Amino acid sequence: MTTTEQTLVTLNNGVQMPALGFGVFQTAPEDTIAAVATALGDGYRLIDTAAAYGNEGEVGEAMRRSGIDRSEIYIETKLWISDYGSGKAQAGFDASLRRLGVDYVDVYLLHQPAPADFEDTITAYQVAEKMLQAGKARAIGVSNFSPDHIQRLMEAASVVPAVNQVELHPYFTNATVQAAGQTLGILTQAWSPIGGIHRYRPAGAGDADVLKNPVITDLAAKYGKTPAQVVLRWHLDEGRSALPKSVIPSRIAQNIDVFDFTLEPGELMAIDALDTGLRGGPDPELLSTRTFPKTVDNS
Ligand code: A2P
Repeated sequence: MTTTEQTLVTLNNGVQMPALGFGVFQTAPEDTIAAVATALGDGYRLIDTAAAYGNEGEVGEAMRRSGIDRSEIYIETKLWISDYGSGKAQAGFDASLRRLGVDYVDVYLLHQPAPADFEDTITAYQVAEKMLQAGKARAIGVSNFSPDHIQRLMEAASVVPAVNQVELHPYFTNATVQAAGQTLGILTQAWSPIGGIHRYRPAGAGDADVLKNPVITDLAAKYGKTPAQVVLRWHLDEGRSALPKSVIPSRIAQNIDVFDFTLEPGELMAIDALDTGLRGGPDPELLSTRTFPKTVDNS
């Protein structure tokens, strides 16, 4: 598999990147180099990390060891909320570049909206805008923002986010966020795209494993693919970017082997209809440095 065979997306500032990327949320630092190396070897060229994941250094190390030219790899990372606000955001951004060992990132995101501290969120975004102008980020965007958060941001900012990375899988299709993204030209990017969040953080909603849902398993049987591949194909066929995470080589390979089939419109609608409206992750509206007192060591 080469990147040219993969689906590409064009961001609102013209930057093109692969629609399918590799996620490392909850990948332990000691597993990250091997996982990213496997992913790069399998043809992934978009790697999504975050300052708060604690593995930017290992992502950068895997990239360097791969021997693949920096210009062929798309790196996304994110600024954590404890680094929002005046003074801290620039230091947070610089620390991410330093940990990754690069002089630019491809996509730089605000990790959360931090609604209770939205002035600080805006200040952080304005720092990202400066990094965009300076060529230290090729595109900037947000993560876990609602349409209302985006509107509030746009009242103070000048660059429309290129990306909004949100929880999105068949059990939580986040339809209003997607629709707003389409209207504003913001790429919707799915974290936990195969619904892993409901497996490793059960919401108490019974059997919440999307990969066992009969709609998905029937389609997997029809196409001779795995349930995860069907769900990833659903994202691509609906025009989203998706960032599946795995540390298991066979799954890493499986999750990028999705470019040889497409789902029919009625099949996409059947998957859309699995939406429960229940997110598996935290409600971004409630997330702040007080409710989630994690910090990133930028020293
Ligand atoms: P592991 O890292 O042990 O493979 P998501 O990206 O939707 O959050 O899903 C990630 C979760 O799903 C992780 O727990 C990951 O575990 C698991 N996973 C990743 N790929 C697959 C796959 N192809 N089939 C089944 N489970 C998978």
